[in-house]
Amino acid sequence: MKRERIKVNVTPYEVRGNVTEEDYQCLIRQFGIWPLNKELLDRIKRNVGELHFMLRRGVFFAHRDLNWLLDEYEKGNEFFLYTGRAPSGETHIGHLVPWVLCKWLQDKFDAELWFQFPDEEKFMFKPELTFEEVQKHTYENMLDVIALGFDPKKTHFLIDTRHANLMYKEACKVAKKITFSTVKAVFGFTNETNIGSIFYTAMQSVPCFLPSILKKKNIPCLIPLGVDQDPHFRITRDILPKLGYYKPAILHAKFLSGLKSYGSKMSTSDPDSTIWTTDSPEQVRNKIMKHAFSGGRGSIAEHRKLGGNPDIDVSFQWLYYFFEPDDKKLAEIREDYKSGKLLTSELKAYLIDRINAFLKEHQRKREAAREQTDKFIFKG
Ligand code: TRP
Repeated sequence: MKRERIKVNVTPYEVRGNVTEEDYQCLIRQFGIWPLNKELLDRIKRNVGELHFMLRRGVFFAHRDLNWLLDEYEKGNEFFLYTGRAPSGETHIGHLVPWVLCKWLQDKFDAELWFQFPDEEKFMFKPELTFEEVQKHTYENMLDVIALGFDPKKTHFLIDTRHANLMYKEACKVAKKITFSTVKAVFGFTNETNIGSIFYTAMQSVPCFLPSILKKKNIPCLIPLGVDQDPHFRITRDILPKLGYYKPAILHAKFLSGLKSYGSKMSTSDPDSTIWTTDSPEQVRNKIMKHAFSGGRGSIAEHRKLGGNPDIDVSFQWLYYFFEPDDKKLAEIREDYKSGKLLTSELKAYLIDRINAFLKEHQRKREAAREQTDKFIFKG
């Protein structure tokens, strides 16, 4: 029987199907985004002296207007960074991918970061979610952002309901230029979608130009994000020039694979598919050992003889995307796994150590962040 490739559907509100390497190439065409090619990477490197491993390895794989952004930067027109997190639950490792790159970009380009916590977004989209729960998640999610080491003097948290006085008027200017048929087409909304959801994309566009308003001059904006968020900014980019602002530039990340199968999306409703930033060492060990999909062989003898397949092995992918920044070490692991010298259990043990070392530090900084949220929340 001929197997049809599952067509992926990627929007901010649904990622359907496993996303493979080939699908990311399809998304580039489907979304009209640009591959992050060697020339651009070299240009980043020329400016800051090195490349983050997530850039080197194609974890960030596409962009919009990065050439323009670097033109401006090289002319002395500095940019700010913008990203965000809709608080709807705990933070998992996958959420951290764009934030880790933001931290690197902040350091390398000495850039401000505007971080949005749209605390109304998931309230609108998830029937069961209350504002009380969202408030708790907002605070907890902030701790994860702060724990990554952002500079409080250059980092500003915007919380939609709290900063409504600053944001709502600007959102209205954007909303006035978006039709219902546009959001239906872009997000797959229907006549049954609640009207709060329909408006939301206008709120997500505001941080793209709010700093320009506050500083009374146009400032270029760069948004590192998971590729599922691109549709929001496709709309924003059409509108901002009409309001007299720059279009934001964007850097698109692939998804960190869920544990259970290669290319699956981590699911908040299935705790076994992911690692939370608050997981204990035992929880990490159990989940990786039990659930991380393996590209190894059925028996040790067979594995030794034929070797494993790192390209579909979730443990290897997690090292590649996040937990093994050292290219040489990673190449070694890859070769040893392919040759059969390294067993799945050994690969998993290595990953578990790396995750637990990361989480130990992260959880320490996360606790220290409890007293610091006030320094990050924008006052103005
Ligand atoms: N909509 C995003 C989410 O669901 C949150 C978000 C707000 C965001 N502003 C952003 C994500 C800018 C990336 C870039 O989590």
